[in-house]
Amino acid sequence: MAGPISVVFICLGNICRSPTAEAVMRKMVQDLKIEHQFDIDSAGTAGYHTGAKPDERSVEVASALGYDFTGITCRQVREDDFLHADYLLAMDESNLANLRKMCPDGYEHKIRLLVEFAQGDYPEVPDPYYGGRRGFELVLDIIEQGCAGFITHVKSTHF
Ligand code: 4NP
Repeated sequence: MAGPISVVFICLGNICRSPTAEAVMRKMVQDLKIEHQFDIDSAGTAGYHTGAKPDERSVEVASALGYDFTGITCRQVREDDFLHADYLLAMDESNLANLRKMCPDGYEHKIRLLVEFAQGDYPEVPDPYYGGRRGFELVLDIIEQGCAGFITHVKSTHF
């Protein structure tokens, strides 16, 4: 293998879903002792929360299960992500459409939906921002399934 597999998780604001995916992915690969084989990051298609810490509702729900958001700060997607990441994993169809518009020619194949790798039949990771705690729990559940499936995919495809 040439080097670590680079993945950037993408949502709209980079304060709820994609930081959760980053924290979940970090813990899963650490638990499997394969963290050196991954480069993990997250970003938002919008820039309105740039510099903010993850949403406290996401942190509360996920830290109860041992996920750690230390060092995660909101940033917007940039051209470099398309050039250098191996995978840009979008949380929903709207993120996917926005990424396709932002993507330089020839890099579209890197853009996928995280739920493609989940076992359950979820169309997307729904935006929890204006909802209650149950929405954040559902988001975490889908993200855990998606990350587990993504790790299996990477192991069978790249390692
Ligand atoms: P995220 O959630 O895309 O999962 O980070 C949202 C965060 C902020 C907003 C919408 C969704 N917002 O409208 O500010």
